[in-house]
Amino acid sequence: MEKFVGIIGAGTMGSGIALAAAQSGCSVSIYDNNETVLATAMERLRSGLVERVSKGRLSQKEYAETLARLKPTTAFRSLGLCDVVVEAIAEKLDVKREVFKAMSDITAEQTLLASNTSALSIGAIAAGCKFPERILGMHFFNPAPVMKLVELVSGINTSDLTLVRAKEFVNGLGKESVVCRDTPAFIVNRIARNFYGESLRIAGEGTATPAEIDAIMREVGKFKMGPFELMDFIGIDVNYTVTQDVYNAYFQEPRFRPHQMQRTLFESGRLGRKSGQGFYDYTGGKASPKIPVGAGQVAAAKAVFEQSEKTFFLNKDAVFARVLAMIINEAMFAVQEDIASEPDIDLAMKLGTNYPAGPIEWGRAIGFEKIHGVLRALHAEFQDERYKAAPLLKIYA
Ligand code: NAI
Repeated sequence: MEKFVGIIGAGTMGSGIALAAAQSGCSVSIYDNNETVLATAMERLRSGLVERVSKGRLSQKEYAETLARLKPTTAFRSLGLCDVVVEAIAEKLDVKREVFKAMSDITAEQTLLASNTSALSIGAIAAGCKFPERILGMHFFNPAPVMKLVELVSGINTSDLTLVRAKEFVNGLGKESVVCRDTPAFIVNRIARNFYGESLRIAGEGTATPAEIDAIMREVGKFKMGPFELMDFIGIDVNYTVTQDVYNAYFQEPRFRPHQMQRTLFESGRLGRKSGQGFYDYTGGKASPKIPVGAGQVAAAKAVFEQSEKTFFLNKDAVFARVLAMIINEAMFAVQEDIASEPDIDLAMKLGTNYPAGPIEWGRAIGFEKIHGVLRALHAEFQDERYKAAPLLKIYA
């Protein structure tokens, strides 16, 4: 277990990762170039720990020990003796590159240097650094002390030893790791795209309303939240930006195409819960509506997989099959492109997004031939390339 941990950036993610490391017994130096932000972060961490003591979740001794392990610093050079440094500063390639270049100059050859980037290429961040084989992506999820998943991103120069040591480190934080190749949106943010994207198309066509789609995905699919309530929760602006970034990073791949409804909401300032309105209206403390789904509707939605060659579009019963088929298809593309292993993809989607099952095990349970049937029918109906089946899905089917 790496004992001396450096964190660069004391924002949401940096302070969360720092806390996770301190709670696991690491000595943590948190660096930020903004003294006020650093002081605020330390105060937030301290009051969070105090609250847990008052709720009986943390002993006074654990509180004192954890706090003593968190050391704020504005001296970049003090990170030079760390075993592992995790960078969590703003998502800007030129700034991250500068920080990694400086880190690679002041640390020993074997120091693990990790970026928490959610979208930038590790290879690009590591360009020009000394010993780029010890540089990798360590993508924690928000809130970092709570979320169990870390995506370890292997850049073009990252060594196997670096991945092994990184896995040991995140396991020591009580987390589970998956390994993925350095590709846009990694595993979770890529495969989750069509939970939103296909749902938006269904709503946009007028087949079902957002409230109906949410209810179906919760009741039939057993997802904790429906796609529209989740977009409202995440923020329409955040979700729309990620969608555009992934779409552009994959050179306008139709599977990732954003939807007009996202742009309309974004441009009109309806950003979801935080602005009071998004797909739903939250003004005056209102919650997103919950529509009842009867047992008959659940059975009809599941039966769609059995009759996928028939035209069932513009039909509410097809909502679940369409969204799930798109998620499973994306997982098959990711396996085929060697982005990650099948077990890692399933684990990542269960831990990173709370999916009730991994997409590949879900496909296996339903039958890949049925998933392929849904995609074939969608492709025939809409003549849209976004519905083309992954070659590997066809093989599995
Ligand atoms: P944030 O804006 O809350 O924090 C960034 C911090 O970095 C700020 O405190 C800022 O003062 C500091 N900073 C900026 N430039 C710096 C520099 N050159 N040297 C030292 N400190 C500097 O950002 P957040 O949300 O914590 O994100 C950080 C990284 O984590 C980004 O790469 C983001 O994409 C990634 N990420 C964010 C997630 C989220 O849900 N917020 C989830 C997973 C990854």
